[in-house]
Amino acid sequence: MILKNRVAIVTGAGSGIGRAGASIMAREGAHVVVADIDFIHADETIQQICAAGGSAEALVLDVTDDKALAAGITAIAARHGRIDILHNHAGSQVAGDLEQVAINGFDKSWALNVRAHFMAARLVMPLMKRAGKGVILNTSSSSGILYDREMIAYTTTKHAVIAMTRQMAGDYAKFGVRANALCPGWVDTPFNEPFIAQMGGRDAIEAYIADKVPLGRWADVSEIAEPILFLVSDRSSYMTGQILVVDGGETVV
Ligand SMILES: NC(=O)c1ccc[n+]([C@@H]2O[C@H](COP(=O)([O-])OP(=O)(O)OC[C@H]3O[C@@H](n4cnc5c(N)ncnc54)[C@H](O)[C@@H]3O)[C@@H](O)[C@H]2O)c1
Repeated sequence: MILKNRVAIVTGAGSGIGRAGASIMAREGAHVVVADIDFIHADETIQQICAAGGSAEALVLDVTDDKALAAGITAIAARHGRIDILHNHAGSQVAGDLEQVAINGFDKSWALNVRAHFMAARLVMPLMKRAGKGVILNTSSSSGILYDREMIAYTTTKHAVIAMTRQMAGDYAKFGVRANALCPGWVDTPFNEPFIAQMGGRDAIEAYIADKVPLGRWADVSEIAEPILFLVSDRSSYMTGQILVVDGGETVV
């Protein structure tokens, strides 16, 4: 088990990619803090992890609530005395071009996709510095490196996640802390439901993905979990400030 005795916080771990990442970390021996706004989903993740013999606890909070985030992370640090891994994953997509996107939609995107990552990293960093090691993984997206039609809030925030990750990596490498960004492409999770509805249903999105993605299909969450495990474990021990794009080839064409 390559994460034995480590403590990991995964935001947005109540569903989709976050859940798959939390589960693979637990499988590899980490105690996982399932941080999610949705208690029922967080609990489902914990039940799954425990049923598989892993160790997990819930942290039910809105990660954009600074006070709740600070209280939650402080309590975890006090209880476990260490935080080895922070995977900032919770994020949202607010559609629209410059004139269409609601101003508060832009602000909310920034608060969740960028600012909450910044705050959580800021809160764990003193502990990681003291330990002389730690790993931060920030979820960006293929939209963090691509133009994405009429998605100005999403692409702007996901590009910012990459810049922020590189800054963290450069500034904290001397303390033994690594920071990398994950850029998934099309992954079959509830996250895409609004876009599927906008496209006109499942058949339409399948055709779109078959056309857009060289591998011709969605990723299953398990295909993102493995890269997550690589990035949060010592398997990537000489890698920091980088982005790992897992998109079925979408960005090469
Ligand atoms: N699924 C994809 O195709 C895809 C592709 C690229 C990037 N991403 C990124 O992955 C992340 C989410 O994707 P997913 O597919 O796992 O989604 P998902 O919808 O399956 O899960 C998101 C989880 O985040 C939680 N969450 C939402 N807002 C929160 C908040 N304010 N505080 C705490 N928890 C909150 C939700 O309750 C949910 O459990 C986002 O950052 C998204 O940009 C997804």
